[in-house]
Amino acid sequence: MTLLTELKPSLPSTWYYDPDHYALELRAVWYRDWVCIGRLEDVPEKGDYRVVELGDQRLIVTRNGDGKVNVFHNTCRHRGSALCTSDAGRFRNGRIICPYHTWTYSLDGDLVATPSRAETDDFHAEEFSLYAVHSDAWGGYLFINLSTAPEHSLLEFLGDEVQRVNNWPLADMVSVHQERADLACNWKVFWENYNECYHCPRMHPELCRLVPVYKKGLISRSDDPDWSPESADDDGEPHVAAGNATWTLDGQTILPPIPGPTDAERNIGMTFASFTASMFVVAHTDYVRSVRLLPTGPESVTLIVDWLLLPGVYESHKDEMEKTLQLGRLVVEQDGRACELNQEGLRSSRHQTGVLVAQEYWLWEFHEWLRDRLREEQAA
Ligand code: FES
Ligand SMILES: [Fe+2]
Repeated sequence: MTLLTELKPSLPSTWYYDPDHYALELRAVWYRDWVCIGRLEDVPEKGDYRVVELGDQRLIVTRNGDGKVNVFHNTCRHRGSALCTSDAGRFRNGRIICPYHTWTYSLDGDLVATPSRAETDDFHAEEFSLYAVHSDAWGGYLFINLSTAPEHSLLEFLGDEVQRVNNWPLADMVSVHQERADLACNWKVFWENYNECYHCPRMHPELCRLVPVYKKGLISRSDDPDWSPESADDDGEPHVAAGNATWTLDGQTILPPIPGPTDAERNIGMTFASFTASMFVVAHTDYVRSVRLLPTGPESVTLIVDWLLLPGVYESHKDEMEKTLQLGRLVVEQDGRACELNQEGLRSSRHQTGVLVAQEYWLWEFHEWLRDRLREEQAA
């Protein structure tokens, strides 16, 4: 994408708080696309489970005895009770037991017992397996698709973007630190903020010291009229300033380099891969950080930030971890504040729509993508 050559309208303000529009977007995007809901290591052992909330749906993620991760709706097939009463735990004896009338399921969702049920000839347990959710993994990240017939495989959905971080051993890495933030903003406000750096000079002074092009309010060096390639393969992506290696407050790293990335990838110090609209990954020479978002209401979204390292690195560098966390944490906090301010102002009855300036081209692309999705959903 290149700079817009004219102003474009932003989305209607009501789309950021109207409950009916929010419900439409859940159906058009979040209940239809592949959505990242965590890491495979979130349920490391047989029977471990997590309950994940996506929109108004609650899902159980669990691991069976063969190591396979399964995802089910948190709903009993008898009369629809919720199955899990806490957000995480372990199913004892590999059994998922409904707290209401004790229908009992295997870790693969098969109904295996219905204690105290008076028998009738027409009861067939195989007709009452848990509602399974399509799931698949990439790079150790677990994705789900709530559609009963997904239009694409996960890899088709992720597309070429995965190649940007192919050289990082994501699947072998583990999340060593996680932070959550509940923001009072519509999910689109956060995704838009992520897709422009017009706000960076004002909102992210520390990051701007590290990434010079951000100081100009640009997301890519090739957007700068003064830009010329530094080498034959320089595509104008942003990079850290000379003398810096990674995203820390002083630009220096204390963690061992991750094997895999090329010298060129190490030199730029930051490689983004974005998967609209549930996550992005930022890969550095020494650590990887991912940010996931899950909408929780018309004006609320939960962010989950993970820091990934290869196994064992955290244990041998515990004392230095804080330095690795600081900048990413600070940037998320700064963006969170900006997003909540944005949401607050969108409520004005006078503000029907805003405007996109030249360097907000990724927002325009996102808006076009979303409008297509909504049209398709309304036509369905
Ligand atoms: S609703 Fe689950 S056993 Fe009755
Ligand atoms: Fe930002």
